[in-house]
Amino acid sequence: MKKSFLSQDTILMAPLYAKADINFIKGKGARLFDSKGKKYLDFASGLAVNALGHSHPAITKAIKKQSEKFLHLSNLYPNEPQIKLAQKMLSLTKFGKEKGKAFFCNSGTEANEAAIKFVRKYFFSKGESNRVEIITFVNSFHGRTYGALSATGQEKFKTGFGEMLSGFKLVEWNNAEELKKAVCKNTAAIMLEPIVAEGGILTPSKKFIKTINEIKKQNGCLVIADEIQAGLGRCGAISCSELFGINADITTWAKPLGGGLPLGMALISAKIAECLKPGDHGTTFGGNPVACAAGLAALEILSKPKFLANVRERSAQLRDGLEALAKKHKFLGEIRGEGLLLGIETQKPVADIIAACRKQGLLVLRAGANVLRFLPPLAATKSEVKEALGKLEACFSSYP
Ligand SMILES: Cc1ncc(COP(=O)(O)O)c(C=O)c1O
Repeated sequence: MKKSFLSQDTILMAPLYAKADINFIKGKGARLFDSKGKKYLDFASGLAVNALGHSHPAITKAIKKQSEKFLHLSNLYPNEPQIKLAQKMLSLTKFGKEKGKAFFCNSGTEANEAAIKFVRKYFFSKGESNRVEIITFVNSFHGRTYGALSATGQEKFKTGFGEMLSGFKLVEWNNAEELKKAVCKNTAAIMLEPIVAEGGILTPSKKFIKTINEIKKQNGCLVIADEIQAGLGRCGAISCSELFGINADITTWAKPLGGGLPLGMALISAKIAECLKPGDHGTTFGGNPVACAAGLAALEILSKPKFLANVRERSAQLRDGLEALAKKHKFLGEIRGEGLLLGIETQKPVADIIAACRKQGLLVLRAGANVLRFLPPLAATKSEVKEALGKLEACFSSYP
C-alpha cells in the first residue's frame, strides 16, 4: 500500500507539530490546492503570514528582481531594501514622527528577544541597572527562544525546559489593579500583545490600557507592544497598539512583514536607540534584502486606506456571520477579536472542528483551549468570506 505523505514527514522530522496529512502543491490568493485536486479556502494564512494570500504577483516580482541583484550581504553594509522597508514602517507608525529607529531580525521571537535586551540596556546605560523586571500577562505568547519564552504567560510552553530567564512577572490580563501592584522601582517594562492572540483572542479593556499608559508616565518604565500577530493590517490598522491607544516605546513585528519570507523587526524610540552602539546586538541574516524587498511590496499594498477598509468590512461580515451561527448552534459562544483576527468560543473539541472544516475545504486554527481562530488573508473578498461561512455552517450542522 502507498504510504501517506504525512508518514514520510513523520519518519524524518522531529515530532514537534501536529500536522494534517495533505500534500499542498500550489497556492493562489486565498486558495490552496492539494495533490489530489482538492481546493481549500485558506483562513489560516500560514499562521497570519500570507496577508495578501498565496503567491501575490507583486511579491513574487519583487523577490525575483532583488534575487537577481544579491541575495545576502550581511549587516556590515547598508542595503536599499532594508532602508526602504525601515522608512516605510517608520512612516506608517508613530515611530517615524518620534525619530525612532528600526532593527531587523528573522522572526517574531527574535524581535521580542531584541526588545527585551534593548529595554535592559536602556536602563543600564541610564545608571539604573536594577531595572530589569518585565511585566507580562497570563495567556500571552511571545515566542520559543528563552527570553521570549520567559515572557510568555502559558506554562505549557515552558514545562520541561528548565529555568526560565529571571526578572519576568506575570499578571492577569485586563486586571488593572493587579498590574498596579506588580509595578515597582525595578520595573523596566510592561510587555503585551495588544490582542492576546494564540492564548484565546483576548482584547484589552479601555481601563487596562489607561492604566498601562498611566504607569508608564508615573513609574518611567517602558512599554513593549508585540504586534507580531495583531499588527500590519490584521486588526484593520497598521499598528494595533496605536489603534488601541497604547503608548509603546518598542513595537515588534514579524509574520507578514517579509511578504511570506522570514523577517522580524523591532521599532524603537529615539531615546532607546541612543543607548545602543555597534556590537550590542546583531544577527547574520536579519533584514535579508530579498525578504525586505518582498515585505516592502506587500506593505505598499496592505497599507493603502482602501485595503485596510476592506479588512474592516470583511471583519464585520465575518463577525455578523459568526453571530448568526452562534445563535443557531448552542455549543458556540462568544465572538472576540478585531479586524481579521477573530475567534469564536466552542464547547466542542476545537481539534475536531478544525478537522471537520478541513473536510469541507476550509482551513482554520485554534486559539487557547476552546476558541476557533480565523486568520483569513487580509485581501479576502466578500464572496470568499461568504463561502467560508457556508462551509462553517455545513461543518457545524454535522454536529448533534
Ligand atoms: C504575538 C506573537 N508573538 C511572537 C510570536 C513568535 O513569532 P515566531 O514564530 O516568528 O518566532 C508569535 C507567533 O505566533 C506571536 O503570535
